[in-house]
Amino acid sequence: MPDALQTIDEVASRANAELAAVRSADQLEQWRIKYLGSNGEVKNLMQLIKTAPADQKKNVGQRANAVQAELKTAFEARNSEFSATQTAGKDALDVTEPGKPPTVGNRHILMKVADELTDLFARMGFSTASGPEVEDEFHNFIALNIPEQHPARDPLDNFYLTSDDQSQTAKPGAPEAARKSQILLRTQTSTVQIRVMEKQKPPIRVVIPGRVYRPDTVDATHLFMFHQLEALVVDKNVTMVDLKSTIMQFVRAYFGSTAKIRFRPSFFPFTEPSAEVDVWFEDRQKWIELGGCGMVHPNVLTTCKIDPEVYSGWAFGFGIERIAMRKYGIDDIRHFVENDLRFLKQF
Ligand code: DAH
Repeated sequence: MPDALQTIDEVASRANAELAAVRSADQLEQWRIKYLGSNGEVKNLMQLIKTAPADQKKNVGQRANAVQAELKTAFEARNSEFSATQTAGKDALDVTEPGKPPTVGNRHILMKVADELTDLFARMGFSTASGPEVEDEFHNFIALNIPEQHPARDPLDNFYLTSDDQSQTAKPGAPEAARKSQILLRTQTSTVQIRVMEKQKPPIRVVIPGRVYRPDTVDATHLFMFHQLEALVVDKNVTMVDLKSTIMQFVRAYFGSTAKIRFRPSFFPFTEPSAEVDVWFEDRQKWIELGGCGMVHPNVLTTCKIDPEVYSGWAFGFGIERIAMRKYGIDDIRHFVENDLRFLKQF
């Protein structure tokens, strides 16, 4: 059996060397557990007193106690060194602090509403389609029966885009042929009606959620970018009854069974007859406009190579922000785009 005093010295010098090598509060704690902990090596040294021969007990006891005291003092010194750096140092790191849980975001309220709407229409047999936000004039105007001279095509009411290809940037006011390929940010999702009919023949039953752009002055009810939900149905024997009953079903399912709607005669170049739809809200005692609708104009069907003598259709285009504002009691359309977490977190 090695000499007890020798063992004590050996532990003391190893402990001192390791303590000198400690570089972090974490390592210091490991050291404390190893040497001064309740099952630590210093504790074991104390056992040596018991097993030491009677004549050595005193020496061994004194030495073990001295080493214990010395190591405790050395530990305190290094410990205060670390807590000092922790409060003073810029890069100080409290390893005992609980970690920050990652924040899990949520989908934007408008995207949720768009999903709620497409889900609801899916239950009524509608599929979902989409189309490009950068459009040509053919899909945004011409195919929708919006003639060259129509005020809707005014450059002041549209975000026309320039292109590197000079042939695509003929000035507004140039002959129709030269302007055919002008491009712009779409002003309505009705463009996708055309894109759907170009690809698919009746029966067609589709909804199209998407962004649209108009150079409007921003206020509590206007943005220069907003979202629409477009619907298109084309089949044999489709009448205005189908249009009205589908919109009625949608409004009751989404806003509640007591919601009332009214149709006001209106005009859109791509529908005939056309109407605007308002929903009555009991609590506000007010009609709120949802958007436009109507029976698809025969010219539009013909342009898409669908025979208007055989087929008929209806369509609508509603503002999604407006629907979301009403459903969730949001009073200012700008909230949707300001990226304020206090707003976004509520949904
Ligand atoms: N595109 C029209 C707008 O943005 C809304 C609209 C009206 C869409 C009638 C339709 C429709 O599909 O049939 O103002």
